[in-house]
Amino acid sequence: MSTSDELHTTGRTSVTETTEPGAATTEGPAAAAVLGAGVGALALGLATTVSEASTTVSGWFDLYSRVGPLSGKTIFAVAVWLIVRRRRTALHRGWSVLADPGPPLVGVAQVQVAAEHPAGAGDHTDPQHQAEHHPAHPDSGHHPDHLLGFTVPHAAVAAPSMHNTQPWRFKMHGNLIEVFVDTSRALPAEDPDGRNMRIAAGAAVFNLRVAAAHLGLHTWYDLTPDPDVPDLAARVVVETSAGADTELWSLYREIPRRHTNRGPAAAAEISVPARTALLRAAVTEGAELTWLDDRHAEAVLDLVREADLRGVGEWSKTAERRHWIGGTRVDDGIPSMALGPRSANYPGPVRDMAAVPWDRQRPAARFEEHPVLLALCTETDTPADQITAGMALERVLLTGTRHGLAASFLNQPLEYDDLRARVQRETGKPGYAHMLIRLVHARNQPPTPRRTIADVLGDT
Ligand SMILES: Cc1cc2nc3c(=O)[nH]c(=O)nc-3n(C[C@H](O)[C@H](O)[C@H](O)COP(=O)(O)O)c2cc1C
Repeated sequence: MSTSDELHTTGRTSVTETTEPGAATTEGPAAAAVLGAGVGALALGLATTVSEASTTVSGWFDLYSRVGPLSGKTIFAVAVWLIVRRRRTALHRGWSVLADPGPPLVGVAQVQVAAEHPAGAGDHTDPQHQAEHHPAHPDSGHHPDHLLGFTVPHAAVAAPSMHNTQPWRFKMHGNLIEVFVDTSRALPAEDPDGRNMRIAAGAAVFNLRVAAAHLGLHTWYDLTPDPDVPDLAARVVVETSAGADTELWSLYREIPRRHTNRGPAAAAEISVPARTALLRAAVTEGAELTWLDDRHAEAVLDLVREADLRGVGEWSKTAERRHWIGGTRVDDGIPSMALGPRSANYPGPVRDMAAVPWDRQRPAARFEEHPVLLALCTETDTPADQITAGMALERVLLTGTRHGLAASFLNQPLEYDDLRARVQRETGKPGYAHMLIRLVHARNQPPTPRRTIADVLGDT
């Protein structure tokens, strides 16, 4: 479990599923072509030399005498080149799968980058320029410094947050990044203690670490490092002297693919390797994930019903939701299109976030009767634990995305202390529940909007 006086390193987990970042550097179409041509030329040279030395060998290559002995050698060289090229193509394909950063991060097209890199003619603040001239590549620590000020905040803001409030702010001082909870984006009715803000900040810290690893950088972090500055969620130190954590590195491509999915899905078994990877993801970050069997999931759905009933008539919560949810959204909040259909069965396995009348009229669909529900918990419940829960949440979500899974959340019972304790009891373990996660096999949920990077950097 994390405590505020420990310094954490992201380089401590073992490598099981990926290629070393450095191993990818020699791959790629250019490397394949150069190597293939080199081997072909070598073969041609050898063939020429040997056939000069031996008339027997020369005869072997004289495959088509009317154009002379060289044609045979050329055929041989081309054959060698083709064989080598085929092997390099296979390597290159493997490399592409591992290194593909996925779709662009949300909001990339709109942003202005860090203040220390002011705008200039077609310069480094232009994301198009960045993508073309400095593509983020998980190769090494050898990257232009300004990529840190670009890749890292973009990844951080893609994190999930309650009602998509994006309650975070970043200060970048060279290789030190401070992550703050932005209390101006609080939800006083639904999140009076700021727990959900800290979970969101933790998720952003996790993405930030993943992005640094993507650049070949190692990260250290300290949670709630200064008791006099309670909004300071984490300090993250980025350094080149140690190698990147390869597991973090491998999750980078999942960041823009992860989206909350509130749609219905066919009930389907989640494979043992996927389950194991998810449980391990939570533990690696200092939290615990509990798979609820049908009986306990049913009991949790009863608590969801109870929380929904309590919520009727809590007008301050309704007003807050109306502010953040529904319609077309430009930079924050949940757009109507992300709500999914209403559940025809109640209580459905998906929280109906609709706040305005027209969203409540949207079409209904039948959802799975026996949802896959998981509880994400920590042993204790300090602010640092809540940030830890956020990091664990994002690690679980990105790991799930890699396995073709998408999540939505049934957190309404967790918004009442007594119901939260009863959810925890259903896990059969001591501790504090932070998130109730429903998993489905799904992809291709459209992204929700994000604020620009300029909005989240610095003091304002
Ligand atoms: C702490 C926290 C609590 C959340 N609670 C809920 C919830 O109860 N129901 C829900 O449908 N989504 C919930 N979400 C998901 C957010 O609505 C979602 O992350 C946000 O709208 C951004 O969309 P995205 O996840 O697709 O990027 C929660 C997210 C976080 C981080």
